[in-house]
Amino acid sequence: MCQKKKRICTSGSHPLLSTPCLCPGTTSGGRPCSAARIFMMVNFALPVHSQIMLIGTLSCLHAMIWTLSSLEQYFPVISAIKEDVAKHRLLIFKDQGVISGARHVEIGRWFGEPESTFYKHPCSPHPDVFRVSNDRTEGCTNVGRTGWHIDGSFQEAPFSYALYHMVSVPSSGPTVFVPLTDIVEELPKKQLLRWERLSMISDRRSGPVHPLIYSHPITKKKVLCFHLGMTEAYVWDYGTSEQRVTKDEETCALHQEIHHEMVKDNKARQYRHEWSVGDFIISDNLAVGHEAAPETQLPRSQVGLRVLHRVTIEGHSPPTKMYPIPKE
Ligand SMILES: [Fe+2]
Repeated sequence: MCQKKKRICTSGSHPLLSTPCLCPGTTSGGRPCSAARIFMMVNFALPVHSQIMLIGTLSCLHAMIWTLSSLEQYFPVISAIKEDVAKHRLLIFKDQGVISGARHVEIGRWFGEPESTFYKHPCSPHPDVFRVSNDRTEGCTNVGRTGWHIDGSFQEAPFSYALYHMVSVPSSGPTVFVPLTDIVEELPKKQLLRWERLSMISDRRSGPVHPLIYSHPITKKKVLCFHLGMTEAYVWDYGTSEQRVTKDEETCALHQEIHHEMVKDNKARQYRHEWSVGDFIISDNLAVGHEAAPETQLPRSQVGLRVLHRVTIEGHSPPTKMYPIPKE
């Protein structure tokens, strides 16, 4: 029986255990078919303007080569990377070595002001770097395992970006991402109309209320504000005379309904990132949902040490619908 706030995804036979749906032939100028199709290599340990940047796909690494010396200046490169994050939602940079905490935060500042709401683990290399691990002496454990979510839904404005860097990789321990706009756009009309009426109430901090479906502040595309492990309840028709807060059983049923959309069709929408040391991922936190796979919590003695660094960038926009609420 489903209990409120219980993790939805904790079984050993987790549905996330699948191979990613790669998209051969997609190039940096092509249209990605899911959240993560672009594969970029830039050495973040060094100033960007001195690098060779390769852009390709997860299955076609040689698709395009840019010499950054031809891009004239540093800021146009950063600008191009920001445009790519907006367009593709998830950028994966391979073979970065081990980037210092200060450099990680510096890269984060390309996107805005770092916002640190987490526990400062003593091993963290920088106050703005969240250090997660499968060993509590090395970093915070059980992070990202309470259900599908975006980061920072407990704030009035959830984080705009999340930047991840893998410092020590276990034999298994992926992070799984889903593209939120695709999920909303593929909802059957009746279900879409129901979800348009829903808001989530966070169970953390001040307990902000956010519309489940709203407009991404940059792209204006519909995305989801949700956290299946940190939601007190949902509200139907929030702010109207019809407003009603869900009881535990209905809250749990809605969690399951949302969860189903993340995993249905044999996880066809998911991109499962199998980490390597040196991977650096920039994610549009508002455009992709994510979850740490169960293996991320396997003990160090079994799979080796996992250490992942994350920097989050403050959001500026409380989730808002920038369109008329559709009626049945
Ligand atoms: Fe997260």
